[in-house]
Amino acid sequence: MTTKNHQKVVLVGDGAVGSAYAYSMMNQGIAEEFVIVDVVKERTEGDALDLEDAQVFTSPKNVYSGDYSDCKDADVVVITAGAPQKPGETRLDLVNKNLKILSSIVKPVVESGFDGIFVVAANPVDILTYATWKFSGFPKEKVIGSGTSLDTSRLRVALAKKFNVDPRNVEAYIMGEHGDSEFAAYDEATVGSKPLKVVAKEHGLTDDDLAKIEDDTRNKAYEIINRKGATYYGVATCLMRITKAILRDENAILPIGAALNGEYGLDDIFIGTPAIVNANGLGGVIEVPLSDKEKDLMAKSAETLKKVTQDGLA
Ligand code: LAC
Repeated sequence: MTTKNHQKVVLVGDGAVGSAYAYSMMNQGIAEEFVIVDVVKERTEGDALDLEDAQVFTSPKNVYSGDYSDCKDADVVVITAGAPQKPGETRLDLVNKNLKILSSIVKPVVESGFDGIFVVAANPVDILTYATWKFSGFPKEKVIGSGTSLDTSRLRVALAKKFNVDPRNVEAYIMGEHGDSEFAAYDEATVGSKPLKVVAKEHGLTDDDLAKIEDDTRNKAYEIINRKGATYYGVATCLMRITKAILRDENAILPIGAALNGEYGLDDIFIGTPAIVNANGLGGVIEVPLSDKEKDLMAKSAETLKKVTQDGLA
């Protein structure tokens, strides 16, 4: 069994996102044991051999190619396995093929005796997070999706450029689906504790400018995919951040895909919202006091997800 000084993470899916996540975890020196699982053994063995060479400059880590039995005593299992979006494809278009892949993963992980925290990143991530909860039979709190963590990073980066501040000081969230129905919760956002809308006005930004930044954030994945064929560094770093909050029991507030139990008038759904992340997984949802307009957007986003979830899991 792992202890506080020896923590173990299993990555399932060694594609572009998984490999970037493994590299990020190595670079940040997070976890002492890191196992890579994928159907393509050549790839996981090659990645493990390549990653171990980084130890001289990062932190001693036992990184190796493994299988589902290695999940037994893992603290966290991160699932990135799944088909990525192709140019012109929405994330929701991936639901049927990725649900099949997911069900072939969650069952053997649970059968290994794993009782840690699931972190899900394959798309459509909110639906696959819900499905991981269903397939695993785990308590909702032990299943976390990457949610709108990547979208929130994108929004903060874009706004920080406009305000000439550090993105880490832009307290603004993208909420809802990690997808085309996501929205920027501008009405509650702040920059250095000053209302974001006031700061925007001071920088000559109109509501239309803010709406354009929101739209560009929503579509950034397509811009990247059209240019380089996939996205992976941004989401991999978000996964590293979520994993770190779990392993370090941080109670960090992150915009993950969290299970709702009545927040925003919603339940039986996993959706992007600020939430507390700690060693137990979901430590609690931060129910943002949304404006009426934003409440509508959240409800619409949830409706989109529920419809596709019902169809996908029917
Ligand atoms: C993106 C993928 C990870 O938004 O959904 O880049």
